[in-house]
Amino acid sequence: MENERASASPPHVLIFPLPLQGPVNCMLKLAEIFCLNGLQVTFLNTQYIHECLLNCTNIESYFQRYPSFRFETVPDGLPEDSPRTAHEVFNLLDSMEAVSVPLFQEMVTSGPYGPSSEKPITCIVADGIFCFAVDIAKKIGVPLLYFETVSPCGLWTYLCLPKLIESGEFPFKGDDLDELIVNAPGMEGFLRRRDLPSFYRTKNLNDPIIQLVLNEDRHLPLAQGLIFNTFEDLEAPILSQMRKIGPKIYPIGPLHTHLKTRLATGGTTSSSIWKEDRSCIHWLNMQPINSVLFVSIGSLAVMNKDQLMEIWYGLVNSGTTFLWVKRPGSIVGLEREFEIPMDLSRATKERGYIVSWAPQEEVLAHPAIGGFLTHSGWNSTLESIVAGKPMICWPYFVDQQVNGRYVGEVWKLGLDMKDTCDRVIVEGMIRELMESKKAEFLQRADHIANVANASVSKGGCSYKNLDRLIEDIKLRTF
Ligand code: UDX
Repeated sequence: MENERASASPPHVLIFPLPLQGPVNCMLKLAEIFCLNGLQVTFLNTQYIHECLLNCTNIESYFQRYPSFRFETVPDGLPEDSPRTAHEVFNLLDSMEAVSVPLFQEMVTSGPYGPSSEKPITCIVADGIFCFAVDIAKKIGVPLLYFETVSPCGLWTYLCLPKLIESGEFPFKGDDLDELIVNAPGMEGFLRRRDLPSFYRTKNLNDPIIQLVLNEDRHLPLAQGLIFNTFEDLEAPILSQMRKIGPKIYPIGPLHTHLKTRLATGGTTSSSIWKEDRSCIHWLNMQPINSVLFVSIGSLAVMNKDQLMEIWYGLVNSGTTFLWVKRPGSIVGLEREFEIPMDLSRATKERGYIVSWAPQEEVLAHPAIGGFLTHSGWNSTLESIVAGKPMICWPYFVDQQVNGRYVGEVWKLGLDMKDTCDRVIVEGMIRELMESKKAEFLQRADHIANVANASVSKGGCSYKNLDRLIEDIKLRTF
């Protein structure tokens, strides 16, 4: 009876992102696209993320643009001042399991969005890491779609883990990280041990993160659909592997640019959880075309003082002009009285610009940017691809090691610096990207950018996949 009522109600999607900058960014874009196509959307934030959005963005604009859009919040259970960077992600997940999940469950079963409520939800879109969503969606009889904020190529290495274990390839025997991986179909011949997520370097099968991956592997096939922020031409071999695992597959990216093609007028709303320093755009306006290297390690990754020095000297010694995002908290182990060496500070004043957070999408699209030294987070990689900017990849964790390999070896869009952080190598790679092979890399990047843009234009694969997704949500045909 309750489910009958829900199935007669207008389509109402509840979107539940992992409460981190990257996932919130792209899932908010998906929410906007849904609203533009006549779906009602409830976006479930943790209170922490919601406060950040209130402080740093024009959150009102979502309500002004989309009357069918609303935010809901749940606490994440962590103290407000608790760090939420890379190594704390697992604390965050544990805390959410204990505090946020029961509240979410109540909200969609007996609460304001339950089957017997006035506005029952008719579909859940949750981050792929949220295994708990399978049972909850089943209980209330609505389809569950997992949104993968990591790259499909990265996710595929998660899904291959049982096979790697069964075949004895994982845990690795010996320490040779250059050995090729055999049991990852579609990645034969180029994927080395070092290109798997860095947490695969553990020798312990019971490592909590390995268990987390295996748990995700068991739950993903139980969803009705998998939404990917990618486009067919970029990852066709991996998407065809994904099609074998069961749920319907919807590659609808790159989402940030897809949203722009769906908006009749007006720009997009920033979803930054830190204040953007827009002064860097004025600085970029004064630089020659393709002359600036953009440096950023995203929202979670950190570096230590030694790595900071190697990157900094590499940058300065390369002679390039650079725009560097030094996110607060991203450099660990710096003693308070740390003094920047004179030669670095002089060269930085002459040729560099440092901000604590940038409007990255806009920066990457700026004509003055000629390359991107990145941690290879999936959003950053896609933003760089769409902007046609070659990359130097310095991956930190999760899917980033895989992304770096694809950028360097498969897509030929840049250089992969993983597992090294030496000023001579940094300098050499920058010179290669920004000088000796500049024209070659820019030409290749320009070509892939055109393919990406075509995929989200009317008639393109991502465009059609998105229409199919919206239709399936409206008609509940999963
Ligand atoms: C995390 C994971 O680490 C990553 O591997 C996974 O693919 C997604 O989630 P994160 O560190 O947040 O990623 O990196 P990324 O996915 O690249 O997202 C960062 C976002 O922050 C990008 O959308 C980028 O535009 C934005 N950003 C970054 C800014 O707006 N300003 C900045 O100064 C830096």
